[in-house]
Amino acid sequence: MLRSNEIRKKFLDFFKDKGHYTFDSFSLIPTDKTVLFITAGMQPLIPYLLGKKHPKGSRLASSQKCLRTDDILEVGDNRHLTFFEMLGNWSLGDYFKKEAIEWSFEFLTDKKNGLGLDPKRLYVSVFEGDEISKRDDESISIWKNVFAKAGINADVGTRIFLYPKEKNWWEPSGKNVPVGPDTEIFYDTGIEHKKEFGESCHINCDCGKYVEIWNNVFMEYLKRDEGRYEPLSQKNVDTGMGLERITMVVQKKETVFETDLFWPIIESLQKKSQKKYEDDKRSFRIVSDHIKASAFLISDGILPSNKDQGYILRRLIRRAYRHIKAIEFQEDFSSLVETITEIYKDSYPLLFEDKENIVQVIENEVGKFKKALKNGLKHLKGWVLKNKDKLESLTDSDFGKLAFYMYESYGFPASDTFEELRNMGVDVDLKRAEKVFDLEFKSHQEKSKKGAEKKFGGHGLLLQTGELKAKDEEELKKVTRLHTATHLLHEALRRVLGSHVRQMGSDITAERLRFDFSHPQKLTEEEKKKIEDLVNEQIQKGLEVKYEEMGLDEAEKSGALGFFKERYQDRVKVYSIGDFSKEICGGPHVKNTKELGRFKIKKEESSSAGVRRIKAMLED
Ligand code: SER
Repeated sequence: MLRSNEIRKKFLDFFKDKGHYTFDSFSLIPTDKTVLFITAGMQPLIPYLLGKKHPKGSRLASSQKCLRTDDILEVGDNRHLTFFEMLGNWSLGDYFKKEAIEWSFEFLTDKKNGLGLDPKRLYVSVFEGDEISKRDDESISIWKNVFAKAGINADVGTRIFLYPKEKNWWEPSGKNVPVGPDTEIFYDTGIEHKKEFGESCHINCDCGKYVEIWNNVFMEYLKRDEGRYEPLSQKNVDTGMGLERITMVVQKKETVFETDLFWPIIESLQKKSQKKYEDDKRSFRIVSDHIKASAFLISDGILPSNKDQGYILRRLIRRAYRHIKAIEFQEDFSSLVETITEIYKDSYPLLFEDKENIVQVIENEVGKFKKALKNGLKHLKGWVLKNKDKLESLTDSDFGKLAFYMYESYGFPASDTFEELRNMGVDVDLKRAEKVFDLEFKSHQEKSKKGAEKKFGGHGLLLQTGELKAKDEEELKKVTRLHTATHLLHEALRRVLGSHVRQMGSDITAERLRFDFSHPQKLTEEEKKKIEDLVNEQIQKGLEVKYEEMGLDEAEKSGALGFFKERYQDRVKVYSIGDFSKEICGGPHVKNTKELGRFKIKKEESSSAGVRRIKAMLED
């Protein structure tokens, strides 16, 4: 069985043989500052894909460290990761579709120089065409030939499938970037289709039968600032193959976590935990992914902080810590980091050299987090002492308020507060107290001005209670309307700018909403107008605003947005606005978008690196 290190090496050797210059991964932290992290192998190469001459020639290949935080809350299922490596080969105006496709097929199937996969298990998707770029018949015919040579009759509809732009077109975020149609290669794992993913299976189905392993992008267009496409001065190839996924396929594992890129980490956790992987796969996966990503970030010079990359690192460590508690791991970070760096010793020797520093940073951050938790407990004990003579007469509301305070000030989930209270001998009706906590949570969410950013910003630790409440009914109504408008704005931003947009903070007063979101650059006038128009369109449509209560997992599966889900309880409300938006949220909201009036963006500015801020109002 090929090991991941061998797969990486084989890939680089294969393309070196085909005249490519191979180089080490760039840092996870980009030099251009418009994005927080490198998310694709091509990102550091953008100037060369746009025409700048590369000193090492026009054929390049590498294995690039990538970090995608969009998927952070998906981690824990069977395939999402934050940190991963992307194997890639590039042609800078050199070869094009024929070589790219033939070589990718050769690398995947060749028994000697490649991975020796069974060609019968490979399926491909090709761009179906639109007004900018026509149907990619050239790729179809190349694929047919390639399969024919392997003795496989490949037709459109049986082995080659056509898809629109949403699936078979690739663009990095940013303006003036190289883009183009792509062709993707899928591997049939042979596992049975699961009906909960749809009546019938197809290559883009998420059931796990087909795994997308390689993307070949044919970059022939330049996407201009204002969204216009024009032909690039050179035709490029940009390919990307996730090392974890291809290793999973080659090593015949059902998930990436069982490959040699993860399994040693899981074993190291198991050795010093009360639980086994089988008992709580989700927590084991989260800890191994997040600590691995943290190790790479620390080694690239990031320290936990409250902004930018440092904030992501803080979130990763703190989220991992919650799950470390869940599996009752003995917190032996030294052995855990040792295992991680050992996996990457050959390919990333600097990570290995950095292991002591990595352990120290993680231990420090965990220490800080624990201290906050400890102070929370101290507060709780003080509260019980202070109230010990009147515990009997305290109402559910008193307990709810306490739980909310514990949550906001020390990051205690309500259930932890009640559990601790019980440990201290206080008899609480858990269900009823949780309800009051929810009410308290919602009303603070809407009314607080101060501290709102921290709260919505999803910091695991909330330092300040927002005490400003709506003065009266009238003010609450205004806040509620702006709250619904915030959901519309969030979705509109994602539709106009792309799904990389995510809420980073929100603050609502009776007069205006303020919304922070991740996006690398200033919005153009045209984009702002599009966003406003899209929001106003939804208002005019008179869409119904409804909510449904469901389990957090179910809510995540339903596709509801909710970037700070850790803050929520097991059961959440999912608010939907017509078919336009769906978001996990405590409410309250208006009943119908007609109630909102006219939405107007007042200001768009930078909030911090990679984060934009919009201030907007509703005009009557
Ligand atoms: N840039 C493309 C991707 O990330 C191919 O490398 O999928």
